[in-house]
Amino acid sequence: MAQSKHEMIEKSVGWMIVLTLLTVSVGGLVEIVPLFFQKSTTTPVEGLEPYDALELAGRDVYLREGCYNCHSQMIRPFRAETERYGHYSVAGEYVYDHPFQWGSKRTGPDLHRVGGRYSDEWHRVHLINPRDVVPESNMPAFPWLDRPLKTDIAARMKALTAVGVPYSDEQISGANASIEGKTELDAVVAYLQGLGTALKTVK
Ligand code: HEC
Repeated sequence: MAQSKHEMIEKSVGWMIVLTLLTVSVGGLVEIVPLFFQKSTTTPVEGLEPYDALELAGRDVYLREGCYNCHSQMIRPFRAETERYGHYSVAGEYVYDHPFQWGSKRTGPDLHRVGGRYSDEWHRVHLINPRDVVPESNMPAFPWLDRPLKTDIAARMKALTAVGVPYSDEQISGANASIEGKTELDAVVAYLQGLGTALKTVK
């Protein structure tokens, strides 16, 4: 009996590779490309502001220290998550995040709605030594954060305008002066306190 087409593909590594790649690419394009144009993923939620200079600098410290290795910033729409963390995350909250910090590992809790949950002072003590406020904590201590913040944050903001973050010229020109005298700790705390606070929901 003549070989069927199906059999030919299954038995030929070359055809299998080419056709698999084709299928995956088309499938991927169909799923991913529309997201770049969909309103719900490109329009900021009402009240969302780009990070100010200090918050943005804090976000850079967050990245440098690898906080995302233990903390996600993405609350899924499941009851167990919303009861613990608050309203589930929506795409419009991340419009100014480049790159987003969703993460995929939760050694510690999700941080997407941690803004306003604790006082600034709690965060300071916690970051310098987590055990001082949460005795059973296995989060590492970050005592070195209590040092002057040295960064050209204006240049960072300018770069972000290239990907659509709407910083004004005044915001950019005043940015470096606005973080003068601040510490890295001030910056991370400012960043954490703003997280997830833009979305207005009935609690
Ligand atoms: C090795 C994993 C690990 C790393 C890295 C880590 N954390 Fe944590 N974090 C934890 C754990 C575990 C907890 C829960 C215990 C606690 O509160 O200390 C936690 C708790 C927290 C909390 C309190 C959250 C809540 O809702 O109670 C904040 C805020 C936080 N971490 C911020 C940070 C920041 C900022 C960084 C980076 C500078 C960081 N973490 C790095 C593991 C980590």
